[in-house]
Amino acid sequence: MKAVSVVGARPNFVKLSAIEPLIRERWDHIIVHTGQHYDYELSKIFFDNLEIPSPHYYLGVGSGTHAHQVGEAMKRLEKLLLTEEPDIVIVYGDTNSTLAGALAAVKAGFTTAHVEAGLRSWDMKMPEEVNRRVVDHISQILFAPTQGSLRNLREERVPGRSFLTGDVHVDVLQRWLSAAEKSNILERLDIGGEYLLVTVHRAENMDPTRLKVLHDTLVSLSSEFEIVFPMHPRTRKSLSLANLLPKLEGAVKVIDPLGYLDFIKLLKHSSRVLTDSGGVQREAYLLGVPCVVFRDRTEWVELVDSGWVKLAYRDVDEVVKAVKEFEKPQFHGNLLGDGNASRRIVSILEEVFG
Ligand code: UD1
Ligand code: UDP
Repeated sequence: MKAVSVVGARPNFVKLSAIEPLIRERWDHIIVHTGQHYDYELSKIFFDNLEIPSPHYYLGVGSGTHAHQVGEAMKRLEKLLLTEEPDIVIVYGDTNSTLAGALAAVKAGFTTAHVEAGLRSWDMKMPEEVNRRVVDHISQILFAPTQGSLRNLREERVPGRSFLTGDVHVDVLQRWLSAAEKSNILERLDIGGEYLLVTVHRAENMDPTRLKVLHDTLVSLSSEFEIVFPMHPRTRKSLSLANLLPKLEGAVKVIDPLGYLDFIKLLKHSSRVLTDSGGVQREAYLLGVPCVVFRDRTEWVELVDSGWVKLAYRDVDEVVKAVKEFEKPQFHGNLLGDGNASRRIVSILEEVFG
């Protein structure tokens, strides 16, 4: 059997790393990188850290509007899929590369599987929500990470076959946690005591009003916490345009985005995390780090219900209070699965393809 995996952005690489070794053991596996992310810190470092083989194809799509990214990736993908003729195309998560991969594959007549299906934030202004909904409705095989996401797929009556697998981020974290512990990132950043880790990059947080709330929140929190902010280049550009970067850099350790191992070490040892990332919310939960999500909603509703993730969005007071007054819940469950999601995914594919 021949499988093609389509990836292109940081969270796609993390998810691919979970199932890649299992697919490689069994089948011919071709990795296609759309080129959506191209900086070393957002792309190659994940292949190095997580021992993912280099992509067989690099499509060089780069940055641009949504239509540019999806359209260019589709054109280039269509051509290679018609040459490679895979038995299955696998797409991951909810990025523009995920959407382009699924659309190109389905329209060219190839069976498509979606890893991380069924998540909903119920906010169509979020580009990722549009991507998820379309991909779920056109894919033939859907791997849902949680009971809630499986329920969403059933309620929406998606035509594909849905399976509950657990979250592949659990598998990745379990596999790499001890390697991450060996990272010397704390020494490199000269951090000794308690600190707050921040990652913010979502489109909806990049307008000047939201950036000002973020800036003022962090300046206020810096009187109580040391703050480390591995900053996505998009956030750096947006803060810079809004003239907010220099003052923020006075209060916060702003650094380049980190590779997975350094990042997990930094997250594990942080006392709190403030983020708008889907992946970081789950990793914080798994590592038992209190997590404030800088959004008004999340597709990971189970984590909010558990008390380990809190939403805080409206204004500086609300976010500062949420970070300062976070109390760890007593109970820590197993909401994201047991670390065997990738094994389940591969055995379902084995069954489907005989
Ligand atoms: C994308 C995903 C988002 C994911 C994020 C992970 C979509 C719709 N969004 O958002 O779900 O959380 O990746 O990081 O796919 N840029 C660089 N270097 C790069 C890549 C991007 O400087 O290697 C800058 C460019 O200015 C670019 C901007 O970041 O315009 C946004 O990049 P893009 O890939 O469009 O979206 P992300 O915000 O990264
Ligand atoms: N991540 C990382 N370095 C960073 C920030 C995040 O390795 O500086 C990892 C993080 O551990 C998680 C993934 O990137 O596994 C999340 O990606 P991102 O936040 O970009 O996207 P999302 O999960 O929101 O789609």
